[in-house]
Amino acid sequence: MSLQQLIETAYAMVADDKGLLAMDESTPTCHKRFAKLNIPQTEEFRRDYRELLVTTPGLNEAISGAILYDETIRQQTKDGKPFVQVLQEAGIIPGIKVDKSTTSLAGFPGEKITEGLDGLRERLAEYVELGARFAKWRAVITIGEGTPTTGCLEANAHLLARYASLCQEAGLVPIVEPEVLMDGAHTLQRCFEVTEQTLRLVFAQLAAQRVLLEGMILKPNMIVPGLQCPKQNSVEEVADATVSCFRRVVPVAVPGVAFLSGGQSSELASERLNMMNTKYKTKVPWALSFSFARAIQQPGMEIWSGDSANVAAAQKSMYHRASCNRSARRGEYSA
Ligand code: 13P
Repeated sequence: MSLQQLIETAYAMVADDKGLLAMDESTPTCHKRFAKLNIPQTEEFRRDYRELLVTTPGLNEAISGAILYDETIRQQTKDGKPFVQVLQEAGIIPGIKVDKSTTSLAGFPGEKITEGLDGLRERLAEYVELGARFAKWRAVITIGEGTPTTGCLEANAHLLARYASLCQEAGLVPIVEPEVLMDGAHTLQRCFEVTEQTLRLVFAQLAAQRVLLEGMILKPNMIVPGLQCPKQNSVEEVADATVSCFRRVVPVAVPGVAFLSGGQSSELASERLNMMNTKYKTKVPWALSFSFARAIQQPGMEIWSGDSANVAAAQKSMYHRASCNRSARRGEYSA
């Protein structure tokens, strides 16, 4: 894979005002969401649900790429067609989550580190064989009393850069995802400061590890107050803070910023993305896009609730939320 192809894939992931569907929940995370809706936590139901997602009629009108999970990239529809092929035929680029989730960072109470670097080169080669063209690695940063620490931020930034460099070696576009969590009572200003510090360290490490910025996508949190913060800022304040933070730290060479939804409601995530594009689309060098899991899937998953009779209605909801976010990229979303 040439560098040019890598760059073309990265641009294709954010082209035409489309965005990414994150459907890469690990089995434990998927089960947590199923459990809340009394959906049986079995491989059969996980497969049924992922088939519902990838076969959503019209999904490709709003979705450029789908992030799969190790189990999902190997699965097929009931009719025996690999999910990867279903996506490819719809013109949706298949991608794969390659981190192995988070664990406690030794010596840093309350902070997390992401695992998955061991054997990654070999795993990436297999995913390329299976049809993946991009990958994702998520680092988790927790705001609390005394956290995040520089030790935690540096360790996570280094891992993101090592992962990204291995991806590019394999011909995969790395999605670099440092997520500052919304949990807590911190203010929007605190989220701004922590995100700015995080991204500075991430881009320093990406440079140190010789990652080609033109061949990657950044997947960050928006700048929002903590869920328990008494002051919940307006949509416009969130949009302004998010764009001013990224202007300081995200190099012009990066093709796209594809936000995670992080537990915001579907509507709020779309409204905030819409406001950013309304005010700043032509004023920033990168695409302001989306890579949502919950903000696209949650309403549809609730409609489905594990009952095959609800598949069509659930797919309608998936299509609707995906389309809303495409509209938001154009500054044309209304709730
Ligand atoms: P949410 O949009 O639900 O935050 O998920 C995005 C994601 O892929 C987290 O890694």
